[in-house]
Amino acid sequence: MTVDIQPIRGMNDVLPAQIGAWQRLEDCARELLASYGYEEIRVPVVEHTALFKRAIGEYTDVVEKEMYTFCDQGGESLTLRPEATAGIMRALISNGMLRGQRHKLWCVGPMFRHERPQKGRYRQFNQIDVEAVGVPGPDVDAELIALTTRLWRRLGIERVRLEINSLGTPESRRAYREKLVGYFRAHEGALDADSRRRLEGNPLRILDSKNPEMRAVVAGAPLLTDHLDPESREHFDALCAALTSIGIPFQINPRLVRGLDYYSRTVFEWITDALGSQDAVCSGGRYDGLIAQLGGEPTPGIGFAMGVERVVELLLQAGQAPAARAADVYVVVSGARATAAGIGLVERLRDELPARRFDLNLGGGNFKAQFRRADRSGAALALILGDDELARGVAGVKPLRNEAGQSECPLPELAAAIEAALAGAAAPAE
Ligand code: HAM
Repeated sequence: MTVDIQPIRGMNDVLPAQIGAWQRLEDCARELLASYGYEEIRVPVVEHTALFKRAIGEYTDVVEKEMYTFCDQGGESLTLRPEATAGIMRALISNGMLRGQRHKLWCVGPMFRHERPQKGRYRQFNQIDVEAVGVPGPDVDAELIALTTRLWRRLGIERVRLEINSLGTPESRRAYREKLVGYFRAHEGALDADSRRRLEGNPLRILDSKNPEMRAVVAGAPLLTDHLDPESREHFDALCAALTSIGIPFQINPRLVRGLDYYSRTVFEWITDALGSQDAVCSGGRYDGLIAQLGGEPTPGIGFAMGVERVVELLLQAGQAPAARAADVYVVVSGARATAAGIGLVERLRDELPARRFDLNLGGGNFKAQFRRADRSGAALALILGDDELARGVAGVKPLRNEAGQSECPLPELAAAIEAALAGAAAPAE
């Protein structure tokens, strides 16, 4: 009986043909983050469900509708992480790493949300997540944003713009929330079902509604930015001044509220017009109350995560994804003795030329078939080792991408001959 095994909707394979852009992004981010003093951390993909409920908030879309939650054999409720911040903060607490210390951390890996899949929105997606813990001031906010700006520049991504906002402190937000609820109650007839439900639990999220029929009522709502406490106002003004002084353009979006409850003060989002409706490529903000809320000693923090699939798509669109690197040398072997000796010879060459890529013909085949494979491999050079050559202590060297003819080279001099031939192959044709 054949079994029709399909991939899970919204969960994608990343095939070798696509991996170049992923590696370019990851390599670039890794190098940049290290240069800003960030250290990599790896945390589990599965955590107790209670962690995400407590950190992200009971009334958020993520917790209400999107978590992959299950009971394990021991009867514990576990959840596939929908984001990385909660797990990283849990790790800092469980490993006793707070105690007034500062941490600059990052991680990359898969996250899981049961959303409706569409282009740019998946059920398993990857984030590069960055967190700075222990610094309260707006200087770290500005530096994190500068880091992301530099990443776009290094990657050659231009179609992104920055939106920022301040959510104030939980106290100022509470006062604002009352005003907002009052306003929406007065306009209850104009609210859709989702927003009416949110009125009790999370009225700020109504401001984020994507429903076009809600646009007018949202546009008339009081603005959080007009109700900030003085310290949050000062923090936000200092951030704006720092961004201006380092020349990073931004837009203040007073309706940017973010979908996770742990934020306070600074929030920001990098938006693109190149990906259709899934326009946020990198989002984050400050979460000064989160660690205390999870039972750790009160410690401020700020961070962001970028959607790897979305940034990869931007790289592809901008023509910034590198092509797969072909082999340098394809090794053709012919005859029983040469086949047996081939692997040893190529291992020696790999010792001598560690930066070169060798593709040894495996599994036999006549000369014609082997040269066809050599051609398909994209290698610049074929090395030919037959019983006859082996008996004479030489190998054939044949450039595959120019008209230069085949030559012979004594085996001990092969590494130098390969380098010379590859240098010749790289030179422009006359
Ligand atoms: P988030 O806004 O939920 O924030 O996600 C961050 C980024 O992940 C989004 O801007 C988007 O690029 C990508 N993303 C989110 N959902 C999907 C999806 N279903 N498919 C593809 N990409 C997606 C957070 O997750 C916070 N933990 C960020 C943070 C870190 N805040 C402070 N520290």
